[in-house]
Amino acid sequence: MGVFSLHALLCIGAIVSAPLQSTNQTEGIASSDPLPGFADLHVHQMAEFAYRRAWFAKGANGGYSHKGKIEDALHQCNGGIISSDFNKQHAGTIFGPLVDQFIGPDAGIHLDKRWGVPDNDCDRGKPTWLQSLLGQCKEDKSFSGFPLHNTYTHQQVWEGHLLTAHESGLTLMVMTAVNYKPLCKIMASSAVDNDPTLACDGMVSIKRQFDETKLFCSERDWCEIVYSPEQARKVIKEGKLAVVFSIELTHLFEDSDMSIDDQVDYWYNEGMRIIQIAHEEDNLFAGVIPQNPIFKFFQIVETITKLNPAKFPTVGKDGLNSKGLTDLGKKLVQKLINKKIIIDIAHLSFRSTEDLFKIGVENNYYPVIQSHGDFGADDLKENRYVTDWMALYLKKSGGILGIYSSFLFRDYQYSFDLGVKFYSILIDIAFGSDFNGFAPQLEPNANFGEENLKKKGFAHIGMYPALIKEIEMTSSDKGSKLIHRSTENFVKLWERTLDEKRSKLSTVGFNPRNKNSTSPNGVFNASQL
Ligand SMILES: *[C@@H]1O[C@H](CO)[C@@H](O)[C@H](O)[C@H]1NC(C)=O
Ligand SMILES: *[C@@H]1O[C@H](CO)[C@@H](O)[C@H](O)[C@H]1NC(C)=O
Ligand SMILES: *[C@@H]1O[C@H](CO)[C@@H](O)[C@H](O)[C@H]1NC(C)=O
Ligand SMILES: [Zn+2]
Repeated sequence: MGVFSLHALLCIGAIVSAPLQSTNQTEGIASSDPLPGFADLHVHQMAEFAYRRAWFAKGANGGYSHKGKIEDALHQCNGGIISSDFNKQHAGTIFGPLVDQFIGPDAGIHLDKRWGVPDNDCDRGKPTWLQSLLGQCKEDKSFSGFPLHNTYTHQQVWEGHLLTAHESGLTLMVMTAVNYKPLCKIMASSAVDNDPTLACDGMVSIKRQFDETKLFCSERDWCEIVYSPEQARKVIKEGKLAVVFSIELTHLFEDSDMSIDDQVDYWYNEGMRIIQIAHEEDNLFAGVIPQNPIFKFFQIVETITKLNPAKFPTVGKDGLNSKGLTDLGKKLVQKLINKKIIIDIAHLSFRSTEDLFKIGVENNYYPVIQSHGDFGADDLKENRYVTDWMALYLKKSGGILGIYSSFLFRDYQYSFDLGVKFYSILIDIAFGSDFNGFAPQLEPNANFGEENLKKKGFAHIGMYPALIKEIEMTSSDKGSKLIHRSTENFVKLWERTLDEKRSKLSTVGFNPRNKNSTSPNGVFNASQL
C-alpha cells in the first residue's frame, strides 16, 4: 500500500482524532464557521517573469506558460539548444552548457528532458492531418506532457493544473514573487527578453509578477487577490481561490533610493502581506541558512564576475551562521509588525530567528510562518527546518509551518517512529510546495498507491488531488483533516497579527522530541512552556 507501517496507520487514527477537537488553541478568535480547504504557503506562480524571462521554458511561439491552452502553454521546449528563434532557448547561461548542467537537471542543453506537450501528441498536441492519417501521432506514454518532480526550469503552475488543485480543495495560495540577481545576470543573451519590466532589479521584477497575478485573477472568476483576513474569508466562502502576495528576494530593498520604511509602505500598497526578510545570501537585514548546493556555484559566479559582493554565510565554530539580525534588520522587523505584515522565517539563520523571536515576544507573541520547510530536531546543523525551540515559539504565537512535499510523508512516518505525538496536532501545518522554485518535489515511488504519484512524483500543482488521496490511503486521517484545516488556521494567524489584545497561547500538550533543543544564544529552548 504505502510507505507506512501498520504501526503508523494505527497511531495516526488514535492521535489525530482526540486533539482535533480541542479547537481552543487560538483563544479569542475561534471561528464558529471554519473555512474549508487547504493552503499552500509558497508558490512561485509567476516565476516565468523572473530572471529576465530567460530561465523558464516559454510557451509555444514565445508565449506564456502559466496560462493559455495546455498545448501552447506547456509546449515542448527545444531542449535548450541555441536557436535563431530567441524565444525558444531557455535556461542557458553565458557560461555555456558545460557549466549549466550543474545548475539543475533541466538547465542548459537538456535534449533528454524536453518536458512539455509535443506537437504530435494525439491527445493534447496538434498533430497534422498527415501525421494522424499515417498514425504518426504519439500517445504521451512517457509523461512528457508535464514536467517531472525534479524540474527547475519548466512550468509547474499552469492555470489548468492550478484550477484542478483549487477544485480539489486548495482554497488559499500564497503567490511568492521571486528573483535572484546573480542568476538573472548570467542568462545567455540569446535567451533574454529585453522588455524593461523584466529587468534583474528586484523592484521591477517583483512588480511585474504582482501585476501579472492581478491580471490573471481579474480574467478568471475563480481567483481573487486578498489583502485582509476578512476579504480572505469572504472570497473563500464564495468558492474562490484566495491569493495572498509574498516576496522572496535575496537582495531585498537594495535596488531603490527610497528609504526602507518607504519601500515597505510601497510594497504594502502593491498588495504584499507576507515577506521573507532574507533568502539564500546574508543581506542588509539578516544572516541566512546555507543550503542549496547550487548556491555554491553562484558564490563562484559572483566572485568571478564581481556582479555582487559575495555575501554567503560564514559558518562559525558552532557550525552555525554567525550572523543574526542586523540593526537594520531589527528595525525592519518592528516596522513589519507595526504594519501587520506576516513575517516568514524560511531561510533565516538560527541566530536571525532567535533575534526575530525576541522581538516577537516583545510584541505579544507576534505570529510567524515558516512557508516551506520541515520539522527537525538537530540544532547543530542549520537547515531549512523548524527545530523544537522554534516549534515552541510557533505554538505560543499561533504560527504555521508549510510542509515541503519531499518531507511530507517522512514527517508523518518520522513522528510515529519516534513515538512522539504528531507535531501538527500541536503546531499547525499547511503545504509549502515551492513550485517553480529550486526545489525537487516528492519523488516517484513504486510504493505509492496513487498511480500518477507513483509514476511522476509531485510534478506540478495539478497533482494535489493525488497527494491528498495518498495521504488518505496511507493514514487514517480520513478526510485529511489535518491539512483541511490549514486555510482556516492561516487566516486565523493573519487575524492574530491584527489583534491588539494578542497574548501567548497555551502550550498544553507540547511534547518536543528534543527537550534540550536551544537557540544559539540560549534565549529560547524547547522546555520553557
Ligand atoms: C477556551 O478558552 C477560554 C479561555 O482560556 C475558556 O474560557 C473557554 O471556556 C474555552 N472554551 C472551550 C470550548 O474550551
Ligand atoms: C530553558 O530555559 C529556562 C529559562 O528560560 C531554563 O531555566 C532552563 O534550564 C532551560 N532548559 C534547557 C534544557 O536549556
Ligand atoms: C538533556 O540535558 C540533560 C542535562 O544536561 C541530560 O541529562 C540529557 O541526557 C539531555 N537529553 C538529551 C536528549 O540530550
Ligand atoms: Zn526545456
